[in-house]
Amino acid sequence: MNKLVAIAGGSLAIYIVLALMMGVIPGWQLSQTPPGPGVKPLTPLQAEGREVYVANGCSYCHTQQVRPLPQDQVFGRPSAPGDFAYQTPELLGSERTGPDLTDVGVRRGSDVWQYIHLYNPRAVEPASIMPSFPFLFEIVDRAPPGVAPAPIPKAYAPAHGVVIPTRRAQALVAYLLSLKQPPQPAQQTAAGAPSATPTPAAAGTARTPVAGAPLARGKQLFETNCAACHQSNGRGLPGAFPALAGNAVANAADATEHIHIVLFGLQGKTIDGVKYASPMPAWGAQFDDRQIADLINYERSAWGNHGAPVTAAEVAKVRAAGNGK
Ligand code: HEC
Ligand code: HEC
Repeated sequence: MNKLVAIAGGSLAIYIVLALMMGVIPGWQLSQTPPGPGVKPLTPLQAEGREVYVANGCSYCHTQQVRPLPQDQVFGRPSAPGDFAYQTPELLGSERTGPDLTDVGVRRGSDVWQYIHLYNPRAVEPASIMPSFPFLFEIVDRAPPGVAPAPIPKAYAPAHGVVIPTRRAQALVAYLLSLKQPPQPAQQTAAGAPSATPTPAAAGTARTPVAGAPLARGKQLFETNCAACHQSNGRGLPGAFPALAGNAVANAADATEHIHIVLFGLQGKTIDGVKYASPMPAWGAQFDDRQIADLINYERSAWGNHGAPVTAAEVAKVRAAGNGK
């Protein structure tokens, strides 16, 4: 009898100590972590979207944690404890069948893109293996007032009617667009804020492992960051994202506007008679001057374009002048 009590009591004690050490204390410590600078709580709609994210198993394929490793630099800066202050339980994930989503609200900061991609990922990423989520949408004859139909490319759109997001899709996309890493104070001068001295090239080399001709670097940056909207062939998606092939800005002799748009983003411009519903994300915080120049020079020479090339020094000048335009 005594033996039984000792075994049961001993096991219970070990169980309690382990539970405290591995579950309760770390959980308590995390809940005491103050939010990092710029980290905001979710709005009710975004919080609802987070539940749609969990319910649809998005975290089976997507992480939300950037490790301090070179191969993670494409996803953003390393995650800090304060980033998760309003995100409990954290959706860290452990499997990256698709990209990390910690900073996806910056990279893919367009609700239009997110809707098309969720409806059918192949419509924007031809080789995507991500499942489609058409059940988050409704097909109606005409969109009700105040609801913008998603401009699904013809090849993927239903034969009749228009595709509108349901409340669940709206909430999910609001959540995805909220996934943005606030820059850490130490980083602000290196990346975001206009600084007179250009960022040392070394900061960028780590993000672009490929060596070789600047054009090849620009192409690679374009494929990873821009092709999702403007497409690899530079033709964009009609009604959703403008073509850069034959585009006036990319062929202009003066590249200032081109540099300005890529650094600071763009919203509400009418291009070749089309007014685009979604904004063009700003890339100045992600890329240093040389990377921006590589990107722009690729756009100015690919697909039959013939704009004059730019230098990193010219990018630095536009960056230093700031987003005053
Ligand atoms: C079976 C795995 C899988 C599941 C489940 C999945 N995804 Fe994906 N996801 C991918 C892959 C692979 C990609 C990369 C190709 C692409 O962009 O479509 C991707 C890309 C993305 C991107 C673009 C990321 C970037 O950096 O371009 C977003 C946003 C996204 N997924 C959101 C979601 C959401 C939201 C869900 C749940 C509703 C989800 N995914 C479910 C595999 C998955
Ligand atoms: C999430 C979708 C999206 C991504 C990703 C994206 N763009 Fe854009 N881009 C747009 C949209 C939408 C516009 C038009 C905005 C407007 O008209 O106000 C645009 C406009 C532009 C323009 C200006 C065209 C003109 O005629 O004024 C340039 C240049 C450009 N993008 C370059 C890039 C580069 C370089 C990248 C990658 C580093 C990139 N874009 C990534 C959506 C995107």
